[in-house]
Amino acid sequence: MSRKRVGILISGRGSNMASLVEAARAETCAYEIACVISNRPDAKGLQVAESAGIAAVALDHTALGTREALDAAVHEALLAHNAELVACAGFMRIMTSDFIAKWDGRMINVHPSLLPLFKGVNTHERALQAGVRVHGCSVHFISAELDAGAIIAQGVVKIMPGDDADTLAARVLPVEHRIYPAVLNALAEGRIRLEDGRAVFSDDAAAGLSLLATG
Ligand code: GAR
Repeated sequence: MSRKRVGILISGRGSNMASLVEAARAETCAYEIACVISNRPDAKGLQVAESAGIAAVALDHTALGTREALDAAVHEALLAHNAELVACAGFMRIMTSDFIAKWDGRMINVHPSLLPLFKGVNTHERALQAGVRVHGCSVHFISAELDAGAIIAQGVVKIMPGDDADTLAARVLPVEHRIYPAVLNALAEGRIRLEDGRAVFSDDAAAGLSLLATG
């Protein structure tokens, strides 16, 4: 079976990237990592990728100047590494609709909230402020509107008395690390697809990935 080549986009620490890399080590994994691209040359995740022997590409958004220039450079790097799918993993740049259209149905993101709640940043603080009792993460297809693409899977955690943004983030992150590689694998197997703006699952096992509830 030929594995789908995945380009990963990061901006920082890269723990989600590392979980995708780790899962790709399994013989049964349906994807392989084509490259890791960061808009920040100092992103810790780039070093992690490099030391795992993965092509690591720094595209400094401040030097490139515009969103269009960054997106064009990212697109070129993805093509240069023969990427077929794109996984955003803590990539903190808003992308142009032209770039997004080029990867429609082939580009996914992990976001640290139960979308459509708490799009954007500071999701854990905002969940606590809102007083919701459950929180979590979502994996979704990327569409032109920020954090509004078709939801594929969600991981749910309880909010505990005394939680602050850090304790909550620390409870959500391991769920991201479980859910994201599983979804990417199913996407690479062709068992999840984007159809009329919705995520469609081709079988029960793929559909079963859509919810991960933790105690
Ligand atoms: C993760 O929690 C991810 O969900 C979030 O940034 C963190 C990156 O951590 N992404 C977003 O907020 C995207 N809107 P990581 O670099 O350790 O994977």
